[in-house]
Parts: sequence; C-alpha cells; structure tokens
Amino acid sequence: MILTGAGQIGMAIARRIGSGMKIVIGDKSVENANAMARTMNQAGFDATPLEMDLSSRNSILHLIAEAQGYGNISMLVNAAGVSPSQASVETILQVDLYGTAVLLEEVGKVIMPGGTGVTISRQSGHRMPALTPEQDEQLAVTPAEELLALPLLHPEQIKDTLHAYQMAKRCNVKRVMAEAVKWGAISPGIVVTRLAVDEVNGQRGEFYKNMFAKCPVGRPGTADEIAHVAELLMGGKGSFITGADFLIDGGATASYFYGPLKPHDSKEKTSQTSENGRQSTK
Ligand SMILES: NC(=O)c1ccc[n+]([C@@H]2O[C@H](COP(=O)([O-])OP(=O)(O)OC[C@H]3O[C@@H](n4cnc5c(N)ncnc54)[C@H](O)[C@@H]3O)[C@@H](O)[C@H]2O)c1
Repeated sequence: MILTGAGQIGMAIARRIGSGMKIVIGDKSVENANAMARTMNQAGFDATPLEMDLSSRNSILHLIAEAQGYGNISMLVNAAGVSPSQASVETILQVDLYGTAVLLEEVGKVIMPGGTGVTISRQSGHRMPALTPEQDEQLAVTPAEELLALPLLHPEQIKDTLHAYQMAKRCNVKRVMAEAVKWGAISPGIVVTRLAVDEVNGQRGEFYKNMFAKCPVGRPGTADEIAHVAELLMGGKGSFITGADFLIDGGATASYFYGPLKPHDSKEKTSQTSENGRQSTK
C-alpha cells in the first residue's frame, strides 16, 4: 500500500485496511512519517517511512519506485494535504490539486489489476457554487501537467485560500471519477434482482449489456454490495454520515461523463440521461 500523508486520517485508514501488507508512508515531514511508522510497527503493522513531496512529480515517482521494491501496488490511500489556514493559494493548488492529480495519474499506470484507491476530499468543495460542465470536465481530464494553466485556476480567478482549497477538492472528486474509468476499480445503476433480470431480457437489454461492459467494474452489482454500504451508514460506525449521497454504480456514471459510456450525439445523450435516472433533457 502507498499512503501519502502521515496524519491522523491516513493512519486511521491504514490501520483499518493495512494488516498483512507492506505500507510505504510518504510525507513531506519525515518526522511525521517516522512517528507514524513507529506507532504502526509497534501495533503489528509493517510500515516504512519515506520523505516525499506531493507537489513534485519526481518525488511521487520515487515513492512509487520505493513501494514497487516490495512488490505490486494494490492500494493507494492519499491523505496528504494542506488546509486553507496552513498554506498560500499557490501551495494549496500545487499540493492538493496538482499533486493529487499527478499521484492518481502515476499510480494509475502501475496499480495491479483489481487495485483500489481512496483520496480524502472535503465537504467544503461541495459548498462552492456549481462550475460549468465544461469547467468540471477540464478539472477531470486535463493532463496533470497542464492543470494549473487552466484559465479557471489562474491566480486572479482565485479569491483566497479557502477558494483555492475548494477548487482543489472539487478537482479531486472529478479526477477520481475520471481515473475510475482507467483503474476499473473505484466506486449500478443496476443491481441484479428479479426486476433487473427482466430489464436485461426486455426491450432495453442491449442498453444494459453495453452499460455493464463499459462501466469500470465491468459487471452489474449485487444487492449485498448495496447492503455493505447501508450497514456502514445505519450502524454506529456511520453515525457521522448524515445527509450524504453515495453513488454505488460500478463507475457507470464516471464512464458516462469521462469514459466509454459518454454519449456521442444529443439523441443518445437524451436516452442515456433518462436511463441513468438523471433529469431527462427531452
Ligand atoms: N481534519 C479534517 O477535518 C479534514 C476534513 C476533511 C478533509 N481533510 C483532508 O484530509 C487530508 C489529511 O488531513 P489530516 O486532517 O489527516 O491532516 P494532518 O495534518 O494530520 O495530515 C496531513 C499530512 O500531510 C502532510 N503533508 C502536507 N503537505 C505535504 C506535501 N506537499 N507532501 C506530502 N505530505 C504533505 C503533512 O506533513 C501531514 O503529515 C487532507 O487532504 C485534508 O484536506 C481533513
């Protein structure tokens, strides 16, 4: 596992899912990385600290190479970052926005089949007014190296550090969506039940088969996979989650916006939009 950010959130996630794995912890603060590795190793984990800077592609490549020295990379936890009161607009954009994009881009090239990743975003990104569909798409798919040259990220467009942070987190959400299409393993429209079987065998069967084939996970979901999330949300461990929206769709929506399910003409868009349960454009 690659973990960036030896902070409390990163450690909590690594402790939850990292048993039995080599965990390579990258952090700009080598003291933080060392302290976390020490704490985890004393609790039976196998962690190795490494000094790394999320805002540097070379540093990210060095972290990946180090991790590959222990075997294939199957997990990425990105919990490194700076907050609006910790850093300048430039640093926030460089670390939280550009750095996360590069990390996803580079780890996406080497992650083993079936590998998964999580990057920690923040609710303040959701409070920012909506961007245009074109701006969202730019944040999602512009190559990382060109991101900071986008007009909407020019310094005169960014009001303050909170705005920079919100932009970075919005970008993180969009990048994860676009990367999901390539990784094939991050967060169906369709869960197999009797109702769904009728749909697949009915008039729109081809539409559904195409959706299964071209969504990142490449299959419909099962009711049990929905139940896992419900269990989390409804149990004590989900008590801090309220008023939230979870998309459990095998990546079909990600593919609809940024992958092979993207409609090519307006007619197709109209029918797919309504099939996906989104507001119809008819
Ligand atoms: N704490 C919260 O309330 C909260 C809420 C939502 C999201 N987040 C996000 O969660 C992530 C982790 O935050 P946390 O609360 O665990 O903070 P934290 O300060 O405990 O940990 C963040 C770590 O990132 C490291 N870091 C900073 N800049 C870096 C860089 N350029 N390269 C590599 N490492 C770097 C820091 O040294 C620190 O160890 C951040 O992205 C943050 O925005 C935090």
